[in-house]
Amino acid sequence: MPKSVILDVDTGVDDAFALLYAVRNPELKVLGITCVDGNTHLDQVCRNTLYVIDAAGAGNIPVAAGARHPLMGSSGHAEHVHGNDGLGGHSKPVTNRSLDKRHAIELIKDLVNESTEPVTLIPVGPLTNIALFIATYPEVAKKLEGILLMGGSASMGNVTATAEFNIWHDPEAAHVVFNSGLPITMYGLDVFYELGVTQSHIDELRKSPSTSAQLAADLVEFRYGSMGSEITLGDYGAVASFLYPELTTSKVMNVAVDVTNGLNRGQTICDKRPNETELYPNQIGKPCKVILSVQKEEMVKRWIEVVK
Ligand code: RIB
Ligand code: CA
Repeated sequence: MPKSVILDVDTGVDDAFALLYAVRNPELKVLGITCVDGNTHLDQVCRNTLYVIDAAGAGNIPVAAGARHPLMGSSGHAEHVHGNDGLGGHSKPVTNRSLDKRHAIELIKDLVNESTEPVTLIPVGPLTNIALFIATYPEVAKKLEGILLMGGSASMGNVTATAEFNIWHDPEAAHVVFNSGLPITMYGLDVFYELGVTQSHIDELRKSPSTSAQLAADLVEFRYGSMGSEITLGDYGAVASFLYPELTTSKVMNVAVDVTNGLNRGQTICDKRPNETELYPNQIGKPCKVILSVQKEEMVKRWIEVVK
């Protein structure tokens, strides 16, 4: 029985790696995809998302636009990583697909209410849409099986010394999600860079005539060009960790988000201390399953098999 998911994306290069895989893997039923401002501007995220799922040969999956900027106002994008169009110059308009008329949180609400199977949300961008959904439809949010998000870090940051981009982009939204009381699993920077692909993977993809394989190769090549020896499949790892938890190790720890305006704004503070409050007072945040390792070779192998 395929597992039902809703993806929330800020389609950039590694969101595309996740989308190409998710819509082609028969073990997953992608009920819908929602778009959020993040790697690039919302309108470009939407265009990129429609193009990528079209290249993947996806069926008629509803795609909806969501938040145009973070809860507290504008934030930085990441065109320096993903290119001006968010897809390394490879984005193309598609005419045979259009956005769902509903706002992202309405689409999520309807899909969760209509599903007869458990639904998991897999956000791989800033958490603005997810926070708005939880705040607007708390009773529907409680029906979710859980949220497995790409974001945060129990170690170091990438945008700053301590903050990871998806959380840094909208810390207040992340605070709402991590404090929601819903079952949260965090796929953070502790594993994000583990799923490396190299020239040999590009060569393997180039052997396949599919538009999925060719786009995947184009995007790996784009990042490879700017990164050198190896690039990460990034957001794909969140989808793989949801599908194959046996390929991961994790630990439950309290997580809180720094929403101050100091040096650590956007940090996910992961409390690794034992939770005996008499010995270790001042407990913070809410329990969250933090993924700490992945079986990288197997996860990369499974990605290639599906996207080629
Ligand atoms: O920090 C990495 C995350 O930020 C990834 O989801 C990437 O796509 C960007 O959204
Ligand atoms: Ca992303």
